[in-house]
Amino acid sequence: MDNLIVTGGAGFIGSNFVHYVAEHHPEVKHITVLDKLTYAGNKENLADLPTDKVSLVVGDICDALLVNKLVATADAVVHYAAESHNDNSLLDPSPFIQTNIVGTYTLIEACRKYHVRFHHVSTDEVYGDLPLREDLPGKGEGKGEKFTPESRYNPSSPYSSSKASSDLLVRAWSRSFGLKATISNCSNNYGPYQHIEKFIPRQITNILSGIRPKLYGSGKNVRDWIHTDDHSRAVWKILTEGKIGETYLIGADGEKNNKEVLELILNLMGQPSDAYDRVRDRPGHDLRYAIDATKIREELGWQPQFTDFKTGLKHTIDWYTTHESWWKPEKSKVEHKYAKNGQ
Ligand code: NAD
Ligand code: DAU
Repeated sequence: MDNLIVTGGAGFIGSNFVHYVAEHHPEVKHITVLDKLTYAGNKENLADLPTDKVSLVVGDICDALLVNKLVATADAVVHYAAESHNDNSLLDPSPFIQTNIVGTYTLIEACRKYHVRFHHVSTDEVYGDLPLREDLPGKGEGKGEKFTPESRYNPSSPYSSSKASSDLLVRAWSRSFGLKATISNCSNNYGPYQHIEKFIPRQITNILSGIRPKLYGSGKNVRDWIHTDDHSRAVWKILTEGKIGETYLIGADGEKNNKEVLELILNLMGQPSDAYDRVRDRPGHDLRYAIDATKIREELGWQPQFTDFKTGLKHTIDWYTTHESWWKPEKSKVEHKYAKNGQ
């Protein structure tokens, strides 16, 4: 592969993917990152990569002229760029509609024109939420008690509905125009370079800053955590071995409720397990996500390597502890915005 475009490659998961490909796949001669560098993008995330191998184009995926110019000479596009935070989408949905829907449309039109392979990175949130395990007859292991590629689309927030819309566009372009596309829907990622507005890094950097962590509502909401390196390896598998037109769900059997995760962070950072505040809940807060990853495991032979959440979390805490200059300049702005919202 001579030239791989990674949109959103200066954000959390995109930059981890760029590191993964640069390190493990020398057959990719060049990676072009297309990123607008919104508040969530940071060129520092790519700073240690060789410039002859990885180049950053600062631009908008909604800019058709730019997108066409870049896609014309690409072998494949892996599309991570998005507005990604649910809480922001509840305060102002407009950039979510623009980037997540119009931006995806702009990219798939260019890939259609130049016959370029397209992989769309999406989220498990397009399926809405599930009941808690304790309220299910099969305790979460029965048929239909986790998300599968056949689950019904039922998004809850402006963010997840914009991602669902983008998935549907990709499906339609694949079927009607023969776009060489695949889609993946992954669960909650954790690891280095995640913006400090998100749950895990927010709590770690709160503790490092002497601020009490903040838990929304009851803390019973369950997320299915996966290390971002496992996500990267799964996306690579789908890009290179996945069947065109198919959707793959990515998850690592990492279900935990928010209270458990917060108590583990407090414990690993030497704090009492009740040293946090309960704050205003997120409106429309999804209760539980859980992925059935049988298809990618059986068809593509992918499996997660980070199977011990506590160890992965410890590495993540170490990363934020040793990279204070990466997050510190943003901290007060992020907390000020949350405080204004009662969170
Ligand atoms: P992020 O917010 O950390 O990064 C998004 C990146 O996209 C940033 O670098 C930003 O500058 C860039 N961007 C935003 N708008 C753009 C535009 N108009 N043009 C070009 N670049 C633009 O997000 P993330 O958490 O890394 O998520 C990446 C992708 O993975 C998203 O599509 C998200 O829906 C999906 N996803 C995320 C998770 C998760 O747990 N974070 C799980 C599953 C799927
Ligand atoms: O499931 C995949 C999705 O995971 C991705 O599509 C999104 O891009 C990503 O942001 C993430 O969405 P969530 O809304 O699940 O992640 P967030 O980190 O915002 O919150 C995780 C959980 O923690 C959620 O139940 C809300 C709760 N929370 C969050 C924050 C920021 C708190 O209790 N306190 C907080 O301070």
